[in-house]
Amino acid sequence: MRPHESISGRYENDEGKRTFVRELFNRGAPHYDRIGRVGFFGTGQFHRRRALEQAGLRPGMDVLDVACGTGAVTRAAVEILGGRGRVCGVDPSEGMLAEARKIAGAEFHVGHAEALPFPDQSFDFLSMGYALRHVADLNRAFAEYRRVLRPGGRLLILEISRPRTWLGLVCARFYFRDLLPGLSWLLTGSSDARLMMSYYWETIDACVPPDAILAAIAGTGFQHVERHVELGIFSAYTGRTPERA
Ligand SMILES: C[S@@+](CC[C@H](N)C(=O)[O-])C[C@H]1O[C@@H](n2cnc3c(N)ncnc32)[C@H](O)[C@@H]1O
Repeated sequence: MRPHESISGRYENDEGKRTFVRELFNRGAPHYDRIGRVGFFGTGQFHRRRALEQAGLRPGMDVLDVACGTGAVTRAAVEILGGRGRVCGVDPSEGMLAEARKIAGAEFHVGHAEALPFPDQSFDFLSMGYALRHVADLNRAFAEYRRVLRPGGRLLILEISRPRTWLGLVCARFYFRDLLPGLSWLLTGSSDARLMMSYYWETIDACVPPDAILAAIAGTGFQHVERHVELGIFSAYTGRTPERA
């Protein structure tokens, strides 16, 4: 299942999407953290760390952060583990990884969610922050997550969801569609940064609904699959692999 249909005017097909998204993040990488800090009022790092802790990340676990980007979730995982356990980040964008590699205490790899470059049952915890919309196929990505997690492993997917209420949608459109791309351009002077943030909302708006995401996670064999929502837009999807393989 695709997370959204083709975004008109951006690319024609799945291959075009993969190239477009990789180039988008390669060029936007130097600006990503700054936009994140200003655009989310400095709350992003706290939010990611709290979500990891609530989903059960503890020292001693081996963690894989898929779509690690510049390493915002990875950094929070390194802090929680405090040197006890392995932290890996994986992302297809070399530009984003160049930023992430400044983080001490984690290893980084080039790769896609749909074909993770790790053996079966390598990790206790798998996270993915704000990147679900970019994969080609949700079922393929979730099957990979199940494969690389050990029995009893934990999954956490953070994502921004399209608000369900009329007022929520008006506010989200105003902020993410009308304000944030321009603000990003003013902040960085970069049209690549503006495009990155325009595409951000386009994919949130077009994304399949949360129920379809929950069904796809459960459909690949995860148990205790749940979604927690804050402010009507910040979703945390969680699940666990069965205790016995
Ligand atoms: C919005 S950034 C999120 C970065 C980080 N996880 C965070 O919480 O800020 C989205 C990331 O997804 C990555 N990405 C795009 N397509 C992907 C795919 N098929 N598999 C894994 N990561 C992908 C991009 O390169 C980019 O670094």
